Amino acid sequence: MFQELTTERLLLRPLISSDTKAFLEMHSGTKINRFLRNPILTLTDAENYIHKIISEHQKNGIARFAVILKENEELIGFSGLKFRTTEENGYSNFYDLGYRFAEKHWNKGYATEAAKFWLSYGLHTLKLPKIHACADNENKASNHLLEKVGFKRSNQYMVNITLHNWYKIKKDEFESQI
Ligand SMILES: CC(C)(COP(=O)(O)OP(=O)(O)OC[C@H]1O[C@@H](n2cnc3c(N)ncnc32)[C@H](O)[C@@H]1OP(=O)(O)O)[C@@H](O)C(=O)NCCC(=O)NCCS
Repeated sequence: MFQELTTERLLLRPLISSDTKAFLEMHSGTKINRFLRNPILTLTDAENYIHKIISEHQKNGIARFAVILKENEELIGFSGLKFRTTEENGYSNFYDLGYRFAEKHWNKGYATEAAKFWLSYGLHTLKLPKIHACADNENKASNHLLEKVGFKRSNQYMVNITLHNWYKIKKDEFESQI
């Protein structure tokens, strides 16, 4: 079933193979890939990443979703919950919130709007007891965004040689933010 969800300015829908070109375009610019573990630099990178997301969705029933601007139907980013089975900061089999947006659309509140939607969806609709997130300590916008929507930082840890922050949020912590 094609599942499409909405916020005030955004449509959230599963990524599909035909998004590949727009997905690569979304990653253009000098800054967007800086903190990403899987930078998207070529059409093949974009194709592989979309296929990975599609198979995660099929397997787990949830994955990162494409974010489409309602006003012009442009694919401007992705955001969503992922069930992570690989180990991170000593955790595995947990849900995390992830996102990225085209540079030309930064600082318009889109990541915040989508994050609030997914937290409500995860904590209320899916009734998850908690949701995690992580960010490179130097990724100031991402750390700020996570704290703004109610995540609490629980510890710091290393990924290779970079310091990361580990976050979690529960239903009552999210509700006190809205
Ligand atoms: C992180 C990211 C998703 C934020 O997207 P966005 O749509 O610009 O986010 P929003 O506009 O909703 O909110 C950004 C907030 O960060 C703040 N911000 C931006 N740059 C900042 C900086 N260098 N230092 C501190 N805060 C910063 C903005 O002021 C805004 O906060 P405010 O609403 O309180 O003013 C975007 O920068 C991005 O895609 N980055 C590259 C990919 C990435 O790093 N993904 C996350 C991996 S953990």
